[in-house]
Amino acid sequence: MLIDNYGRPWLKLRIVVNSVCNYRCIFCHFEGQGKFLSRELSAEDIGFVASVAKELGVDDFKITGGEPLLRRDIVKVVDEISKVGPKDLSLTTNGYLLDVYAEELLNHGLRRLNISLHSLDRRKYKFITGVDALDKVLENIDYVSGLGFKQIKLNMVVLRGLNTDEIPMMIRFAAKYGFVLQLIELMPMGDGFPVFARYYDDLSDIINWLNKHGKLLGTRKDLHNRPIYEVDGVKVEIVKNYNNPAFCAGCTTMRLTSDGRLKTCLYKEPVVDLWPYIKARDREGLMKAMMYANSLRKPNFVEGASGDLSRIRIRVRVGSLVY
Ligand code: 5AD
Ligand code: SF4
Repeated sequence: MLIDNYGRPWLKLRIVVNSVCNYRCIFCHFEGQGKFLSRELSAEDIGFVASVAKELGVDDFKITGGEPLLRRDIVKVVDEISKVGPKDLSLTTNGYLLDVYAEELLNHGLRRLNISLHSLDRRKYKFITGVDALDKVLENIDYVSGLGFKQIKLNMVVLRGLNTDEIPMMIRFAAKYGFVLQLIELMPMGDGFPVFARYYDDLSDIINWLNKHGKLLGTRKDLHNRPIYEVDGVKVEIVKNYNNPAFCAGCTTMRLTSDGRLKTCLYKEPVVDLWPYIKARDREGLMKAMMYANSLRKPNFVEGASGDLSRIRIRVRVGSLVY
């Protein structure tokens, strides 16, 4: 297992498999970079990186995008990662295409799903995601709930005054299916970011409510020290990263971009280019480059200092306007 210079083990790899999406969420942080990239790793390339990562002690893989289900060979991507024999393999999706792929993905080794569901109100869902697809996504959720995934989590980005009133309803919805609910703090995208300014909620109200009505089960040391509550039989996870030193102290992850670079931090540089080693199937070179990236990892938010947000993209689409 690799440990960085701040005592944090590297245990997980987020694999960004594409940069396109069929949604236009008002807050999208463009994890997939939101633009057309001139090069993209193949499924075999991704499997190669996963196998080297596994050798370095990383055996928890999360597939993300863009929208990963827009990749036509997504089943092959899952298959290639599965072959490495990971302890965990999960995928984050907006849920729109789950009816097409979920069963096959499960059969090829996908264990868990994260489905983004920011509202149960059709109008709000459309406002937040840009797509009038709540009914379809709810149907898909109902369908995948019966397939036998080890775990399904709902990702709800909390937007003050927009969906905060829906949290109790979302808890009941998760209870009905036995899902875990993740309440995600809106990530800032830079100064003057209009969506952030308008809808940011620091989650303190919901945390107070959970402390009163729920039970704190513990915190995930391997996952950003995330607090886990239980309320009405539902596990509720609080994902709070903004200016939160505990989040960075518990960071055990790096991100592989779809164009073959390893990001040492979501928020900032450095980024190590793995592309040449991957394409040459240079196992040793790739391993060294990954070890080097691990040695560069550094917490963004630390006690007593504000984090570096300078690398965050300010660009966001709201309707047809580009901010
Ligand atoms: N803040 C918080 N969460 C976000 N997501 C996308 N953009 C943001 C943001 N600015 C969510 C997606 C998905 C997860 C990977 O991150 O909705 O659920
Ligand atoms: Fe961005 Fe929304 Fe697409 Fe996720 S589903 S990549 S947040 S537009």
